[in-house]
Amino acid sequence: MIFIDACFRRPTPYTPVWLMRQAGRYLSEYKATRAKAGSFLDLCKNVDLATEVTLQPIEILDVDAAILFSDILVVPLEMGLGLEFVAGEGPKFTQTIASQKDVDALKSGAYMNLNYVYDTLSSLRQKLPKDKALIGFCGSPWTLATYMIEGEGSKTYTKSKKMLYSNPTLLHSLLAKITEELKGYLARQIESGANAVQIFDSWAGALESSAYFAFSWAYMKEIAHFLKSKYPHIPVMLFPKGIAGFLDHIDGEFDVFGVDWSTPMELAKQKLGAKYVLQGNLEPARLYDREAMLEGIKAIVRVMGKESGHIFNLGHGMLPDLPRQNAIELVRFVREHTSRA
Ligand code: CP3
Repeated sequence: MIFIDACFRRPTPYTPVWLMRQAGRYLSEYKATRAKAGSFLDLCKNVDLATEVTLQPIEILDVDAAILFSDILVVPLEMGLGLEFVAGEGPKFTQTIASQKDVDALKSGAYMNLNYVYDTLSSLRQKLPKDKALIGFCGSPWTLATYMIEGEGSKTYTKSKKMLYSNPTLLHSLLAKITEELKGYLARQIESGANAVQIFDSWAGALESSAYFAFSWAYMKEIAHFLKSKYPHIPVMLFPKGIAGFLDHIDGEFDVFGVDWSTPMELAKQKLGAKYVLQGNLEPARLYDREAMLEGIKAIVRVMGKESGHIFNLGHGMLPDLPRQNAIELVRFVREHTSRA
């Protein structure tokens, strides 16, 4: 698999490409399958339909890897927090975490109830062409904790930060409990057929440097270390969004560092390119305009070159109103433009 070779810096015929959030509302096929499923969570829990939407970007865009269709929030859901996706507003939990009693009430071993995820991965590995990689994923402990404490998406992370500074022990006990679930969860994803795994730390950028390394990166590193000692042949990819200023302090046992669009690729290459394969980092909004997109791709390839050490991706997820034609052209253009022939 070209994608897996690239994760381990082995030579490949071109720079492989996939797109974060490549399955979603910008595809009419996704909207049709989602309507069949009923709600978004019903879609995540339906093995056949989740398999179908995972495969759509492989067929439509011809990306080099498929990413499991699910959501980072199914883990807190199975730990016991009621979850709804409200149209136009995003995810909302019916209970939140505010005390040690709340943390203690969260279910341990909840990852064992996520059979719909494992069954989707097995079904996908059977259906996917042999040369296409299958990516499993989870949210980082910190990013999941912000949803569990705030109860929904947040711009200010007020409750999470108040807990961090006024009751760090409580936050650490929540993060440790989530971390144990995620180790079991990703291990089971690998056992079920995932060829690589990515941890999304979408709200990394909410924290100052010392808080970031103590409350988020330390737990990501712990999960990565656990996975690498158990499954050395499975690439581990970490995507912390919004920490361009902290690159000097990035360390740990993992294979691929996901560069977000707010980090200049030159800077990431200079600081981390020798140690980790870099993935990224086209600003998704460039896909609104074909010329802006092609210019952005060329600039990234100019920095990363055509040799090993790079996986092409967006610097964050696809947006629901991006034109699909540009996504199709992006994949074709990256492949042609980085061809080693
Ligand atoms: O990449 C893929 O194609 C796989 C699927 C995937 C989804 N969510 C599907 C989804 C992945 C990898 C995620 C991860 C995820 N979920 C993250 C981390 C990545 C990131 O973008 O930062 C986060 C923070 C979430 C939490 C979440 N899920 C939010 C905030 C929302 C609502 C926002 C929105 O786009 O409406 C979701 C819902 C969600 N997850 C959708 C999809 C396709 C939209 C649901 C719908 O169909 O209405």
